[in-house]
Amino acid sequence: IKRALLEHGFTHHETPAPPDLEVAYRHHIANREVADTIAGIERAGGRAVYRSIDVRDGEAVATTLADIRRSLGPIHGLIHAAGVLEDRWIDDKTVEQFARVFDTKVASLRHLLEAVEPEELAFLALFSSVSGRFGRQGQVDYAMANEVLNKVAQRQASLRPSCRVVAIDWGPWDGGMVTPALKRDFARAGVGVISLKAGARSLLDELAYTETRATEVVIGDVLPEPADDDAARRAQPASAAQPGLSPVFERRLDIDRHAFLNSHVIGGYPVLPVAVMQEWLGHGALHDNPGLLLGGFAEFRVLKGVILSNGPRDLRVVVSKIRRHDECFEVDVELRSGPDEEETAHARARAILLSTLPTAPDYTQPPRLNEENYGYSVDAAYREVLFHGPYFHGIESIDGYSSDGIVAHVRSAPPPADWMDDPLRTAWLGDPLIVDAGLQMGILWCHKALGCVSLPTFGARYRQYTDAFPTDGVVAALEIREQIPHRVTGDITFVDASGTVLARMEGYAWTVDPSLRDAFRPLVAQSGGSRTSDAR
Ligand SMILES: NC(=O)c1ccc[n+]([C@@H]2O[C@H](COP(=O)([O-])OP(=O)(O)OC[C@H]3O[C@@H](n4cnc5c(N)ncnc54)[C@H](OP(=O)(O)O)[C@@H]3O)[C@@H](O)[C@H]2O)c1
Repeated sequence: IKRALLEHGFTHHETPAPPDLEVAYRHHIANREVADTIAGIERAGGRAVYRSIDVRDGEAVATTLADIRRSLGPIHGLIHAAGVLEDRWIDDKTVEQFARVFDTKVASLRHLLEAVEPEELAFLALFSSVSGRFGRQGQVDYAMANEVLNKVAQRQASLRPSCRVVAIDWGPWDGGMVTPALKRDFARAGVGVISLKAGARSLLDELAYTETRATEVVIGDVLPEPADDDAARRAQPASAAQPGLSPVFERRLDIDRHAFLNSHVIGGYPVLPVAVMQEWLGHGALHDNPGLLLGGFAEFRVLKGVILSNGPRDLRVVVSKIRRHDECFEVDVELRSGPDEEETAHARARAILLSTLPTAPDYTQPPRLNEENYGYSVDAAYREVLFHGPYFHGIESIDGYSSDGIVAHVRSAPPPADWMDDPLRTAWLGDPLIVDAGLQMGILWCHKALGCVSLPTFGARYRQYTDAFPTDGVVAALEIREQIPHRVTGDITFVDASGTVLARMEGYAWTVDPSLRDAFRPLVAQSGGSRTSDAR
């Protein structure tokens, strides 16, 4: 590369000085890394936009984040990793050198925090250094700057209770600002370097490690072994598989044998619906427990969507041993994919199993819940708001809307064999069309009330009071319970024609995100053509 740069990279005819050649070479390698990373993100189904700005320039930071928000939606996470070194004894250091090192970390962080909304972030990671904690010769500016980052992390954690805030005091990495000469210095001092893979993995672990809320962590090349299973579980990223669960069934998910997927396409790719995830977790929980009934779930969580961006996917449901809990039984269930050593958990819940179903609670729909007209016909809602195709046209009529919720008549699902080849059972345990229609009502409510679509990601509690839903549909009432920026939470009650409660979904949460608007549109309307089409 250096030879090619010597031949073609300099416009002047004179031979560049070695330091200039080194700068040009590093610039070229950095660009190549950026291009490779963007390609990797896109191969994984993500979208990446790269902008280069001087983060010490507050106006440039504000304008860039505003542009990003406009084109991609709210900013959920911020990783602040800009940094430069000017290692010298204090006597030899100029004010400009000090300011460059200090401002690149500290002034830029102030600009970034000023440019995000108080409730916008779900995570904030600051790349600090062990120099901030322990000092290092020649680094008075760098040490001070990193220690400021550590303190700002503490303050931000108290200001942003729903955001995972962490400052990581990294030891030296095997790359980046650690040049080969610096690496030799560290080796002489007995300090090992962090491999790029282990460092990247540690960052993800720290972002997922929410329970202790530690805001400053020190990470060096030797990472301590977790003391027990519990610690190991806490240190896992959210989508890492939990230990101690055994597989009960496997299924290859493909569009040929699962026709319903053609009606559940987001961003051009078929995506396994949350309602079917829930149904399959129920099958898993009952698999080794014949004679019990599915009473519902607690803490149903979507960890990572199952997206068929690369052809069929092999899924399996894994379960824990059954436990007694008061009057019922509990089983931990997960939907997973991937090889054993790199399993990904896509959804997780605690299934509630019962010997007899409980009596349904009474329910009276709040009188003002449906006082306004929704303003879209069902056809228009499916055409202009929702992404769901014919298999998931579960909403029959929208009976009314208000700022407190929405009410609809929803259809029952046909037998499982109409949706897929070789279904696991001849009848559904719940009713995935009724559940999905309830989730669609959340999207419709967000669209009308907030002008923005959403996707369901969490359910605190699902309970069903019947082992067979009526075949002629039910009435569903969604009551909004909480609304914070980018997240709406509500309860849905499903009742039959006589007003008997059949099921309740409590504390279900939808993530509200304007960037989903494009993903919801059928691909034919976007550039790039259609990757899949509706078969029915
Ligand atoms: N590598 C380590 O061993 C180590 C150890 C402890 C902490 N850290 C911290 O980890 C972070 C990344 O370090 P690294 O090793 O990856 O260093 P690096 O390879 O030198 O990268 C530093 C990055 O900061 C960017 N940057 C510098 N000044 C900027 C400015 N004014 N505006 C916008 N971007 C700016 C650079 O962008 P350009 O390439 O466009 O200039 C570059 O992408 C730093 O904050 C560092 O303090 C690193």
